[in-house]
Formats: sequence, C-alpha cells, structure tokens
Amino acid sequence: MTMDRMKNIDLYKSFLNSEKSSIKWKSYFEIYNDLFQEYKNKKITFVEIGIDRGGSLFMWKDFFSKDTRIIGIDTNPEAKKLEEYGFEIFIGDQSDENFWSNFYEKVGKIDILLDDGGHKNIEQIVTTMSSLPHVNNGGKIVVEDTHASYIKKHYRNPSMFSSISFFNLIVDSINRRCPMVNNRKANIYTKKGYSVNFYESIVVLNIDEKKCSTNEVLFNNEHNKSVALNIEQVINKEEKTTISSQIEFFIIKHIKKIFNKKLLHNTFEKIKIFNIFRNIKH
Ligand SMILES: C[S@@+](CC[C@H](N)C(=O)[O-])C[C@H]1O[C@@H](n2cnc3c(N)ncnc32)[C@H](O)[C@@H]1O
Repeated sequence: MTMDRMKNIDLYKSFLNSEKSSIKWKSYFEIYNDLFQEYKNKKITFVEIGIDRGGSLFMWKDFFSKDTRIIGIDTNPEAKKLEEYGFEIFIGDQSDENFWSNFYEKVGKIDILLDDGGHKNIEQIVTTMSSLPHVNNGGKIVVEDTHASYIKKHYRNPSMFSSISFFNLIVDSINRRCPMVNNRKANIYTKKGYSVNFYESIVVLNIDEKKCSTNEVLFNNEHNKSVALNIEQVINKEEKTTISSQIEFFIIKHIKKIFNKKLLHNTFEKIKIFNIFRNIKH
C-alpha cells in the first residue's frame, strides 16, 4: 500500500496522533481499521495485552472514542503509571490462568481482546482459552504476530503445539458443529466460536453464541418455500451414532471398499492431495 493510501486510514492517523511511542507492522493498520470500524463511537470494553511504552493505548482511545473503556495488561509494573491517563492497567502474566480468573472477576465482560504480549504459544493459547467465556456476543479475540508459529528461535516453532495448530483445531470445531458430521462433540469453541479470520500474522476469532446454532435446520425451496427440514430427515441412516450401528457401519463400509473400484480412485486422489500439501509446506 502506498503512503498516500495509508494517510487515509483512520487508525494510522490515530497512531500518528499518539502521545507515546508504539511500533506496529504496516499491514496491521488496514486490517484493524476494517475489523474495528463497527465498534467506533460505541460503548465497548477493549483490552490490549502488551503495553510497552503505552503508545497503542492512546491510539485505540483516539480511534474508538474518548469514552471507550481501555484496559492494558503487562508483566512490567512500570506500565501502572499509565493509569494517570485514564487507562485501567493490570500487571500480570498472560500465560497464567489464575491471573485471568482474577482479571475477569474484576473487569466483567469485554468486547475486544487484542493480544500483543509475549507471542509464545503458551501465552497466546492460554489467553484465548481463558478469555473466550468472557467475550460478549459480537466481540473478537485478536491475536497479533502469529508468524511466531513459524519461528524457531525463542518460539520453538513450527510445531504441533503452535498457536496456529491450536487455531486450526478451532476451525475443526467450527466445521464439526454442522449436524451432518458424525460424533459431534460440543466444546466452548463450537458453542461460541462463530468464525475465524486468518491474515498475515493476525488471527481473529469472532465470537457469537447466537449465530452458532443456526444450522439446526436445512431449508429446501424446491416444493414449499416455507418448510424447513429437520436435520434428522437428511442425515444418512448409516451415519447414526449408536455404538452398535457405528461398528456395523464401519465393517460394511470397509468390506464394500475392498471390492470397490472407487478405492483405487480414492488412493490416487489422496496421493494427489498429499503432493499438493507437500508443495505448500515449507
Ligand atoms: C510488542 S510490546 C507491546 C507493544 C504495544 N502493544 C504497542 O503496540 O506499542 C510487548 C509487551 O508485552 C509484554 N509482555 C511480554 N510477555 C508478557 C506476558 N507473558 N504477559 C503480559 N505481558 C507480556 C512486554 O512487557 C511488552 O511490554
């Protein structure tokens, strides 16, 4: 993006207006500007982990509104001084679940959580897990600098324990919510995680419990536009989930497979996908 276009981004203007210093990647301004537009001039509670010199707290206040409740969290006790500017400051370690339970007991529900703290897997994962129950419907958990999931030094990644691996599990949970999927198990992510956005270095978890249950019926406009089919009517009987029917289904499926020409076709398909994945992997 050219600097001329940057100058038109509200958040970038607020960044330049901030009375304390802050460092942000150039791409973040457009992403945050779009993501947070709907919350401008609304009564929201915004929490940022990672205060450093405080510059971003001034930027958020300028961007949202003077009345926005802005809360900062950092391990550095020096950050407490920023309370004199009207921010609420909490000192603690984001990888500590006890810190979070005390925090939410005092603060109550929040609307947006932005994690710009230590960027380690355990920090990003504990923060997301501990905060999810306390974010209002329509709110967001935004995790910054997720490129740390690909950096060996300091972060010990890539790894199956990385934050991106964790967010991929949330993507699995969201998709497994669909009633067509076998052996559905509800968890907090299926209940509250409406969607996930992946950007370069930023992951956004959009929270909305109300929107999470809208797939319980399947609409059919062929015969009668006003009729909604109950999902039970469209699930294949073979996919019912009692243990005996599952075992039966498993055996029949595999016997069928052995004598099925499709098996060869499926194997070729898997090899093809494996090669595509291998080319994407670094
Ligand atoms: C990149 S700086 C934050 C910059 C600030 N958000 C800005 O845009 O100007 C990271 C901050 O996270 C804090 N931090 C690091 N590990 C933390 C942890 N485990 N819990 C809370 N804060 C942490 C550091 O003390 C540091 O102030």
